[in-house]
Amino acid sequence: MNDLENDFHLIQQLAEIPLPPAGLIQNIVALDSVTSTNDYAKQFIRSHLQPAGTVIIADEQSSGRGRFDRRWHSPPGTGLWFSVILKPEVNQQEWFAYSFLAALVTAGALESVCGILTDLKWPNDVMVSGKKCCGILIETLWNNEQPFIVIGAGINVNQTRFPDELKSAATSLRIESKNKFQRQNILLQWINRINEYRKFHSQDVIREWKRHSSMPGKTVTIQESESIYDAVVLDVAEDGALIVSVGGMSRSIYAGDIKLKICEE
Ligand code: BTN
Repeated sequence: MNDLENDFHLIQQLAEIPLPPAGLIQNIVALDSVTSTNDYAKQFIRSHLQPAGTVIIADEQSSGRGRFDRRWHSPPGTGLWFSVILKPEVNQQEWFAYSFLAALVTAGALESVCGILTDLKWPNDVMVSGKKCCGILIETLWNNEQPFIVIGAGINVNQTRFPDELKSAATSLRIESKNKFQRQNILLQWINRINEYRKFHSQDVIREWKRHSSMPGKTVTIQESESIYDAVVLDVAEDGALIVSVGGMSRSIYAGDIKLKICEE
């Protein structure tokens, strides 16, 4: 469909779309503008009796957040900015895999709706042609002794340009394919796919994630606290650690601690 003037309104209409009764997602809150859908989701968890199964989606975020407290550029009418509230139904040792799962679900949705093949960058960036088209921010929150997982996803869909400081690292589906896309179709596909993962084994998620990643063999620059060094990626372990070789020694690194850049090939 080419009529993207209607795209924004269609996003609002998502609030009325009947969702599969037995699915993980039972409720969509669609907003014109919000500071951050993740912040809204966390507030929603604190103020609702049954918050799990809700997706918060906004056309625009005034203070969209990324990992490492970076700002996430979230202009109106262009991207998909949403947060999904889930009640984890897997053991706590497996929660780390939600991060990989979210990237995997996004890759699948983009392939089936847009016909775009993505490359997953550890731990959860979704890349096209070496640039990021989607970032994921996972947060865990306990309320009344119940754990909740918030999966925040920012998908650059129809942007035609980015601010100068993002140009070299960010891209959109439209820039890469020369096509415009209906954001709600991507969201609905995303919701359908996450429904298949009510329960999962983290090793299966990691195995599937690896099939969508070209990282092994790549040289990366790793920034860990004060030190910066180059390493060669060997693998991703079952516990989600990135296994790298540094000066001939193998080493496991974990997502919370480091920033990672893939070196030019
Ligand atoms: C990253 O790559 O650093 C993660 C970016 C995550 C951005 C999304 S947009 C929807 C949700 N709300 C936020 O404030 N952040 C996430």
